[in-house]
Amino acid sequence: MKLGINIDHIATLRQTRGTHYPEPLVGAHLALDGGADFITVHLREDRRHIQEEDVEALLAELPVKLNLELAITTEMVDYACRVKPDECCLVPEKREELTTEGGLDVVGQQIGVTEAVKRLTAAGITVSLFIDPSPDQVAAAGQTGATVVELHTGQYALLAEQHGFDGELSVATVAERERLFAAATQAAELGLKVNAGHGLHRQNLQPLLSMPALDELNIGHAVISRAVFIGLPAAVAELRQLIDKPANG
Ligand code: PXP
Repeated sequence: MKLGINIDHIATLRQTRGTHYPEPLVGAHLALDGGADFITVHLREDRRHIQEEDVEALLAELPVKLNLELAITTEMVDYACRVKPDECCLVPEKREELTTEGGLDVVGQQIGVTEAVKRLTAAGITVSLFIDPSPDQVAAAGQTGATVVELHTGQYALLAEQHGFDGELSVATVAERERLFAAATQAAELGLKVNAGHGLHRQNLQPLLSMPALDELNIGHAVISRAVFIGLPAAVAELRQLIDKPANG
């Protein structure tokens, strides 16, 4: 299983003061030192963290895949087609949200999503759709031409958080995990690659590691937060260890 580290919040810290530091590119290298397989960034329409220059520096310097998250707007799709990251993950975006708050509504925007997938694919970019683990969304994703889905684990993370991390998972958390596993199975049966992410950290990750067909995890906010205390390579290495030794921790 591959581990992608989302370094958006290194840029968040920089943007709060308008300094040139901390540099996302330096963070990307430290994440790779800790055992990350690839790097993810989200170029938001409001540019609240990652900027175009960051994306371009990462593309020029990184020895690994860059996964660029973006909204389905003409501006963003044009930009991606121009700079050509290895992979694009299409996400919903609302200006007022703190983070990506739900999956992409592929059912409701089938034509727009399909058009964006077509353009990005023609530019040689692998396209992933960030969706909620619902059978309708998975089925719709399978008809867009995208080859990858990233299942939104935010609801699972929220339920696990409410219950705390001591002892068994709550009934609601187990049910959400089952929904994720069923969506993963459905996506794999449709020939889609299965990734997952959002709200994950070293305390809630273990129960998801047996997700069917799970290929990549994307983790951001929690690992950057943890890095404030123990450093980024060590924070990434903790996740790496957990992923590589799921059964006996
Ligand atoms: N995957 C996608 C598509 C996201 O938009 C985000 C948040 O930027 C993540 C994963 C990572 O979520 P978190 O920062 O909560 O780990």
